[in-house]
Amino acid sequence: MSRSDGVVRVETFAYRGKTYEAPVFDTEAPVVLTARPNDIARPLPAESPVVRCLHSIWNLAEFEVPRSPVSLGALTADEIAVFATQDAVRVLDMPIKMPDCAEYRVPRALAQFAGALQRIIDVEHRVNPHHADYHAYLTVDQRWVAPGTLHREAPCHVDGFQGARWSPKCRTNHTYTVSDLLPTAYYVQPFDFRALDERLHDYFWEMNAQVADTNEAHRWQPCPAEITMMDCYCVHRGVENDGTKPVFRTWMRLSFEERRRVFDRLGNAHNPLFEYEWPMVDRDIEQLHLRAFRESSDASLRVFPWQDLDGTPLPPGTPKTKPRLRT
Ligand SMILES: [Fe+2]
Repeated sequence: MSRSDGVVRVETFAYRGKTYEAPVFDTEAPVVLTARPNDIARPLPAESPVVRCLHSIWNLAEFEVPRSPVSLGALTADEIAVFATQDAVRVLDMPIKMPDCAEYRVPRALAQFAGALQRIIDVEHRVNPHHADYHAYLTVDQRWVAPGTLHREAPCHVDGFQGARWSPKCRTNHTYTVSDLLPTAYYVQPFDFRALDERLHDYFWEMNAQVADTNEAHRWQPCPAEITMMDCYCVHRGVENDGTKPVFRTWMRLSFEERRRVFDRLGNAHNPLFEYEWPMVDRDIEQLHLRAFRESSDASLRVFPWQDLDGTPLPPGTPKTKPRLRT
């Protein structure tokens, strides 16, 4: 498959120094998936906090309960070979399922991900009786990762954090991810945010700080190609390529978000297989002008990756700033 197969063009959006590329897909020969929940051999463990919190309302106190993602098992070698086919187009948070619609509609340019998606949605419809209330947003990112760098540089964070913008709070999200190598690191430890103010403080920087407090002692990683389900309380971060050669990594995420959670950020891909028109807005965490709760902590723990330790934007092409999570 070549990149042009099903991709009409790639649009570029830039704001606050960052660039986003969004492919425009055609509608020919789509891949349409429906769940087969009865094909699941065993249900997910009910005792997992991730499973327990599914379809619940966002509650900051849940960060105090350590939690690891739930495993769905790994892709087989044959499945990995298809999943990791080169020249996949990158997409960010594109809806492939809408509320009140049971179909997952995938442009054919992303057909290589159908096998992994089928495994995920079979589990989703088994574990979540409220699936009709949810969107499913697909993100795909594939590229070479140079030694000493990360595929997707970020602080410790969660997907689906509900800050001050979300009032009243929505239901929690849950997210399935899989990558063929460099599996994400999770921090299975309690996090305490009781002293923070969501209007003032950057919670991700405080996650950095609390992970650094423990010297990364509670870091946990799934196996390569293992599909996992996490929720919005699973603190995580990508891992560096600590080898000596570049590696080619394919990473996929499917996020389930309740019907109020419309992902209208400029740069997210549009799915032409659904009829919807969302006014897209430029939005990122930087515009909130949040500050670190611990203003005297190690500077690397409280800057964005694109900033140096003083907060100055790094020149293009320079290595990103990484949080020092271990002494
Ligand atoms: Fe993430």
